[in-house]
Amino acid sequence: MKGESRYLWTHGITPRKFDVVPACDPESPAAVTSDLSNHSNLTLSRRGTRTSLTFRKVRRTPCDCGYPSGCDSQQPTAPPSPPSLPRSQTDASRLEEEFVHRVYEEIAGHFSSTRHSPWPRVCDFLSSLEPGSILADVGCGNGKYLGVNPEVIAVGCDRSSALVQICSERGFQAFVSDALNVPLRSDACDACISIAVIHHLSTQERRQAVVEELARLLRPGGRALIYVWAVEQEYNKQKSKYLKETRHGPTDDSTDHNNQESKRLTGNATDAYNTAQDTSGISMGCTKSPL
Ligand SMILES: C[S@@+](CC[C@H](N)C(=O)[O-])C[C@H]1O[C@@H](n2cnc3c(N)ncnc32)[C@H](O)[C@@H]1O
Repeated sequence: MKGESRYLWTHGITPRKFDVVPACDPESPAAVTSDLSNHSNLTLSRRGTRTSLTFRKVRRTPCDCGYPSGCDSQQPTAPPSPPSLPRSQTDASRLEEEFVHRVYEEIAGHFSSTRHSPWPRVCDFLSSLEPGSILADVGCGNGKYLGVNPEVIAVGCDRSSALVQICSERGFQAFVSDALNVPLRSDACDACISIAVIHHLSTQERRQAVVEELARLLRPGGRALIYVWAVEQEYNKQKSKYLKETRHGPTDDSTDHNNQESKRLTGNATDAYNTAQDTSGISMGCTKSPL
């Protein structure tokens, strides 16, 4: 390819398994009929391993090609620098707004279409609740867990209004709220879940505050289940399937729940608090101690 087609166009290669090739004469395999216009002399040949090599020249001088919109060295601004750690609450909430909430708001539809398989241990927890229990799902996403146990009264909340809207369309009760400040009465819930949410808070202090908020919602003796993502993506010498190098297909919610279940703890609300502050690789069930 040359010129504009090389620099500005995008193209794809159809993944074909066969090539149409001139048929060989079985009596004389070396002789090939080359008349492609005569279809009777064509045959299909299965593709074997194909290797494609791309050779590139490294330019040592500034680029002045005629395609600035497709040329990374002629872009007007430098690539954004990675975010720095937040130093204040305002910084933290701005960071979460930009890198978490805005993203979920934008990808809500696609995200929801990949979130359909509830994780088995979360289902076990939900199924263990007494009929009539009040359940809060904090950071409920598309409401994947809100209908798992139809015997409980489930309500979800999430920062993304687009995801809350999806919950409503699916017939679930959900409202927009930050996990740091859930507008439900203290001691109102028999159970709380917060699945893959707390790691989205950008400081340890804020992550602890969410755990405390869950504990506030629970009645004494109420139970919570929390899952957070692991920083360590290896357990028992096995790497998470979510890592790029070990991933073989699209990632959705059914591909790798074992990773999040790498360490399973039980304890009271205080354990929950401590565990959440020193590791982000756990799932944890806890019971609020009676006062
Ligand atoms: C990985 S998704 C998990 C959704 C759902 N719990 C599930 O398991 O499918 C994380 C969710 O947390 C929500 N979230 C992130 N930060 C939040 C916050 N501070 N308060 C409430 N929800 C939050 C996101 O909008 C998103 O829906």
